[in-house]
Amino acid sequence: MNNFTYYNPTKIIFGENTIGQIAKEIPANARILITYGGGSIKQNGVYDQVRAALKNHKVFEFGGIEANPQYTTLMKAVEICRDENIDFLLAVGGGSVLDGTKFIAAAAPFKGEPWDILAKYAKVETAIPLASVLTLPATGSEANAFAVISRKEIGKKLAFGAPPLTFPKFSVLDPTVTKTLSKRQRGNGVVDAFVHVTEQYLTYPQHAAIQDRYAEAILKTLIEEGPEYVENPDNSESAKNVVWSATMALNGIISAGVATDWATHSIGHELTVLHNIDHARTLAIVWPGMMRVMGEEKKQKLLQYAERVWDIREGSETEKIGLAISRTEEFFNSLGVPTSLKDYELGKETISNVILNLKANNYVELGEKKLVTPEKVLEILEGRL
Ligand code: NZQ
Ligand code: ZN
Repeated sequence: MNNFTYYNPTKIIFGENTIGQIAKEIPANARILITYGGGSIKQNGVYDQVRAALKNHKVFEFGGIEANPQYTTLMKAVEICRDENIDFLLAVGGGSVLDGTKFIAAAAPFKGEPWDILAKYAKVETAIPLASVLTLPATGSEANAFAVISRKEIGKKLAFGAPPLTFPKFSVLDPTVTKTLSKRQRGNGVVDAFVHVTEQYLTYPQHAAIQDRYAEAILKTLIEEGPEYVENPDNSESAKNVVWSATMALNGIISAGVATDWATHSIGHELTVLHNIDHARTLAIVWPGMMRVMGEEKKQKLLQYAERVWDIREGSETEKIGLAISRTEEFFNSLGVPTSLKDYELGKETISNVILNLKANNYVELGEKKLVTPEKVLEILEGRL
């Protein structure tokens, strides 16, 4: 295990009927900008709860943040922040609204071209404080400092993080708000959280026992609770466990002191850029290929995964690993999430374009040991046709 500093300042307010608590978490004299997406919060009552809680605060609104939040849209909110002296941002929505709001928080006070925060890793010296009311368990954005922003005009999807400035001050996780999610978004959420764990866990042995056991606990919880959560929106106990799993998957606790992978995410992001496939669905396509092609490098952890997560005890090492990978793929499919390029009627041309995009971003040595080269990406995706 490597040295590390662990610091996660996001206050979590978890449970049914907790949205009303936001009023006392935000300074009484704050000038708040509420940010939201395409309108789901207006249909399911979340918007009304937020407005009721903030009835004594000064509130502005910005709606229309898309799934895979777009730079051009977010820059309109940056204008509002500057014009209205906004000093608190409240994201109400899924990962896209949260990520978009983190970018707004960093871009509004930024001196210079805000795109450089993403494209040139320009240093973020200050940011507007932000918080969230999460409506979709998946990304973990509610308790981390990262954001992924898209700019479709130039075919880019890039990440940034400015801890501690872009950690939400607080996040409200009310599992009842997940009831109105479509089955597709539920399945997506379970897969995204699952792959976040494997990106941090399925590397090589690093003698980080707590991180490994926590990772396995989250994976097993998603396997046990995910199907019920996807099938039965009214099972609030399953929803609670999935919500908390998704937060725990990417709040930094299982990546402390260990090398992590993230190659599946980097490749997946390019599938979203090219074909607008939902984030989690891109991961489900890439993951089985990544594990098969990088299986030798990941062998020890894949064996541990097979035994401890899937309880596979019989057979040779190769058989155990093969079975663990296929059981995972079946699990994704059982949640209604397809796992091949063919499911989207995509072929070899897509693979070439993904590789071109990765090269353009200089993402040519991905993974925990920088072994995922463009040649490996070709092999991984050819196995997904
Ligand atoms: O826009 P609205 O109308 O709100 O509808 C949304 C959207 O259409 C809908 N939705 C959300 N909550 C709902 C609801 N519909 C009904 N009831 C509710 N309670 O769901 C749709 C998808 O929302 P979105 O926010 O895009 O989904 P998700 O949370 O999966 O976020 C995906 C984005 O997060 C990024 C992804 O790349 C993608 O851009 N990620 C962010 C990460 C992070 N910050 O750490 C890590 C992830 O790996 C990921 O890359
Ligand atoms: Zn993800």
